[in-house]
Amino acid sequence: MRRFLFTTLTLLICFFSVNAQKTTITNLEVDKLISPLGLDNKNPDFSWIIKSEDYDVVQTHYQIFVATDEIFSKNSLVWDSGKVSSDESVYVNYLGKELAYDTQYFWTVKVWTNKSKRSSQSKVSSWKTGLMDNQNWKSNWITVNNEDMTSPKIPYFINDFRVDSKIISANLYITSRGVYEAHINGKRIGDAILTPGWTSYSNRIQYQAYDVMEMLLTGENRIGVILADGWYRNFRQNRKNRIVDYGERTSFISELIISYEDGRKESIIDEKNWSYNFGPILSSSIYNGESVDMNLKNSKWSFPGHKNKNSKKAKTASRYKGFIDYTRNEMIKKREVLSAKELIITPSGDKVIDFGQNLVGWVKFKSALPKGTEVKLYHAEVLDKKGEFYTTNLRKAEQKNTFILNGDEDQIYEPVFTFQGFRYLKIEGIDKINIKDFKAVAIYSDMEFTGQLTTSNKLINQLQQNIQWGQRGNFLDVPTDCPQRDERLGWTGDAQAFFNTAGFNMDVKNFFDKWLIDLTYDQRSDGAVPGVVPHNNYLGPNDSEGLEGNFGRTGWADAATIIPWNSFLIYGDKETLERQYLSMKKWIGFMTKNSINNLFQKRDHWGDWLFFSRDDDNSGVSAVTSKKLIAQAFYCYSTKLLIKAAKVLDYKDDLKVYSELYQKILKAFNDEFVTKNGMLISDSQTSYVLALQFDLLSKKNREIAVERLIDNINDYGHLTTGFLGTPFLCHVLSDNGKHAKAIELLLRKEYPSWLYPVTKGATTIWERWNGIKPDGSFQYPSMNSFNHYAYGAIGEWMYANLMGLKINENYPGFKRFTIKPLFDKNFVNIDGSFKSSYGKIAVAWSRKNGKLQLTIEIPANTSSDVILNKPSDGSWKLENPKLISKILSKEENKQKTLLLLGSGKYNFSFVAN
Ligand code: BGC
Repeated sequence: MRRFLFTTLTLLICFFSVNAQKTTITNLEVDKLISPLGLDNKNPDFSWIIKSEDYDVVQTHYQIFVATDEIFSKNSLVWDSGKVSSDESVYVNYLGKELAYDTQYFWTVKVWTNKSKRSSQSKVSSWKTGLMDNQNWKSNWITVNNEDMTSPKIPYFINDFRVDSKIISANLYITSRGVYEAHINGKRIGDAILTPGWTSYSNRIQYQAYDVMEMLLTGENRIGVILADGWYRNFRQNRKNRIVDYGERTSFISELIISYEDGRKESIIDEKNWSYNFGPILSSSIYNGESVDMNLKNSKWSFPGHKNKNSKKAKTASRYKGFIDYTRNEMIKKREVLSAKELIITPSGDKVIDFGQNLVGWVKFKSALPKGTEVKLYHAEVLDKKGEFYTTNLRKAEQKNTFILNGDEDQIYEPVFTFQGFRYLKIEGIDKINIKDFKAVAIYSDMEFTGQLTTSNKLINQLQQNIQWGQRGNFLDVPTDCPQRDERLGWTGDAQAFFNTAGFNMDVKNFFDKWLIDLTYDQRSDGAVPGVVPHNNYLGPNDSEGLEGNFGRTGWADAATIIPWNSFLIYGDKETLERQYLSMKKWIGFMTKNSINNLFQKRDHWGDWLFFSRDDDNSGVSAVTSKKLIAQAFYCYSTKLLIKAAKVLDYKDDLKVYSELYQKILKAFNDEFVTKNGMLISDSQTSYVLALQFDLLSKKNREIAVERLIDNINDYGHLTTGFLGTPFLCHVLSDNGKHAKAIELLLRKEYPSWLYPVTKGATTIWERWNGIKPDGSFQYPSMNSFNHYAYGAIGEWMYANLMGLKINENYPGFKRFTIKPLFDKNFVNIDGSFKSSYGKIAVAWSRKNGKLQLTIEIPANTSSDVILNKPSDGSWKLENPKLISKILSKEENKQKTLLLLGSGKYNFSFVAN
């Protein structure tokens, strides 16, 4: 426990009333989802947020009620938790009666706090269970007949059915090998895109649940399903063969379950009735784009009774050998719509629209041009030095959408089953372009934004925007390296490097919980984790490096330990750790098995990917870090995280075993890679950063390492780190008293630095420090993405240091956290907020006329240690601590003022000379 001097403070109650303030219970979530449909968890958990204007509010008790009707009648009650004495308001586990499938459950919670004897009750929320069990999938998988199997055309399936009795609920459960869009009676079902998303398809596919009750008619009804290739039947041109990623045949499975007023429940669709024909989509590919002939559009195709031309009988597809799982995460949706900024005619005469933002999604447009006009849309991230439309960096991904217009003036043209990474759109087929007719639609997983950060420095604000746009574009159901070229893969190393930043920006809990399950499925039985999850044929068995090349690479495979642990810290959900624990252990097991004398020996690693290196390196300045050193450092780090997880989960035996292992591998690191005078065998920034961040050195050698790191940065005059060193670089500096150096690196505008791309007009994070070189030419065109989030990992440091919000490992999920803003002189003001599981945390400060004003907001049911550092020259002091209305404890010394604050909004002011 931390020690605080409890001082008696004269409390000046200046901006709140002494009466108990109204408390409201809001943001009811089940498994961190708002009113989810098709949730098959037998023990879901409940979370709520307590809002109150009072100070130091702590929950003392809660009582949860769950029932099958909204009035919580006695007969319908499946759980009354009773009044439980607890301050837990997130992830409270359901402990009621066994939940039935295809059923809606209502819930409400009563909360008592230390501030009032009376409870506050939330509104009623609900969730619906899904099919619960693969046995409940009665239907077969449906596909086109054999002669159409290889057709690039997209099939439109239909099935007619009758509803003659009064119904009380109708839920559609559906998934596909491929991507689908479902319709009923002429209307689209739901608004999710590219469903069912992307999982480890060989092992697991998620299904979606839709409430279609309001869409059904008495009498004749029709359901329709459009089915495209998506990620499942992606034709990947690998180095040797043209192979498909998962399967040659697309198919779907569905159950429409109807409950009648008379108590009957049935799955209504007769699978033998499915038929299909082809519609306007002539071909569709995630990477290459879509080709559409709108003259083939039949707007009535899913209307009951409508006769579709050339209809064929559908066929039963092979059984799916994997597991049909429920959807745990937010689906991809249309998010922002951006207007075109400018029409550019390039030197060679191309007509190009600039949307002013590199984004991921597609362009929709309208056109009054006559029927039969062919319009081709090409997408690119950048223009080249001469101002020409540039697509070389897309490699084999065509990113091209083609539309044959139908002459209908109201027609909006947009693709359905593809997406592009772009800022610029080249248009062919339209002579006179009105840019108002074109809009860019950004699509990404429908997660809530949780973090924002603005400062007095415009370039830093742009950097923050770029990080967030990079996250949008690369969080389409899977965290991808890039969204545009022929990769777009869930590279594990990129994901672990960016995870903490992602977690501040958006609520990524479910997104990563889902991805980690796929990681576990794709992990080899010997514990090796692949470079990409979901694993596919990109570096698959036919790759020249073979299976071994892609699996078990340091810093990538460690996503198996780093992400579960960091997710636990940000969101506080033990279940994530519990679920991933075995996978974490297996990864450590792989490293142990592949060790000699406690040194991880595997040969192939990607190392500190894209570190600073020079084309013409005669003087050897490229910042190479030994891959063996990195591998051992991550071996230690991952093992330490496993130990921490074992502690949280109280796995005592493992704690002992892995603590012993840790001592051995730590010693091996020091024996092998640290010279007797404390130098690391690779005298590079990344070496020192990893050794310091992972706490691998003796106290004496730590000091030496900090010095050598500073010397190294000074020698170069800039950072030299790659994907593995960069996320920790500024943290290590700030945590070791070298904050000014961290700020210097952050504010540097020349290559290599975070702001260099910003000065070059970047609107997302680049893959390389010098994607566009100072002379305007491109670096290494075949691997030069302009939307690659890895270096955006600086975002976490900005939240933690500019805003000053830090996680307290002993109180995961921000139950108790630390606020330590740095009041850096390079900034006049900083305004940041983060919506934690308990509610919004906000820190804002500004400097004016020698004074610093600081406002801190702490959500109910949490507390915060506020550390106000005093500069060594003592140039400012806390001016009016008495204005602080509520301080749980306070300690003052020469270096800092330590306050423990309960919930509430606090204003401070200091003298700042
Ligand atoms: C990807 C990276 C990835 C790397 C592995 C690249 O092609 O774009 O982001 O981590 O391969 O070295």
